[in-house]
Amino acid sequence: MTDIQELLLSRIRDVADYPEPGVLFKDITPLLADPAAFTALTDAFAEIAARTGATKVVGLEARGFILGAPVALRAGLGFIPVRKAGKLPGATLSQAYDLEYGSAEIEVHAEDLATGDRVLIVDDVLATGGTAEASIQLIRRAGARVAGVAVLMELGFLDGRPRLEAALDGAPLESLLTV
Ligand code: PRP
Ligand code: MG
Repeated sequence: MTDIQELLLSRIRDVADYPEPGVLFKDITPLLADPAAFTALTDAFAEIAARTGATKVVGLEARGFILGAPVALRAGLGFIPVRKAGKLPGATLSQAYDLEYGSAEIEVHAEDLATGDRVLIVDDVLATGGTAEASIQLIRRAGARVAGVAVLMELGFLDGRPRLEAALDGAPLESLLTV
């Protein structure tokens, strides 16, 4: 493990039985509160943005907003929010996806992405991959290409990676930590 990975891991707090019994929640608020760790994370994501030739950064509500916005600024790129349904005032594209129980829907302003854009998707956690997969579909439907997906951590036991790699069609899935 690299020094940066050790720093990031040391700032993620495990919370047992949250939000429900049997779930081990990964709390990133200690990382956000530590400017050295938050800067190291932002720099690592910005390097991925540069390496993948991204022209825009998409953050996935809500924790992907916190992580993605500084990446966009550091990389000198525009930031585009992908929001949970009903929160964006302009003309949107929507994408529904299945959860373990029920379904969810995310949206983006259609005018924020264009043909020729290469989008780096940023989020904190890759679990089942459902949220990230839906965001890939949304970005492609907007006419843009996906440069890659970058997450702070991947929950290796949930098989999000094979699902997402199938959806990514050769674009990289970069996770800084596997937990
Ligand atoms: C969490 C996490 C990821 C997503 C991963 O978001 O931040 O966005 O779940 O799960 P998946 O890979 O199974 O789709 P959530 O919507 O729970 O909370 P948030 O609004 O705090 O980001
Ligand atoms: Mg989230």
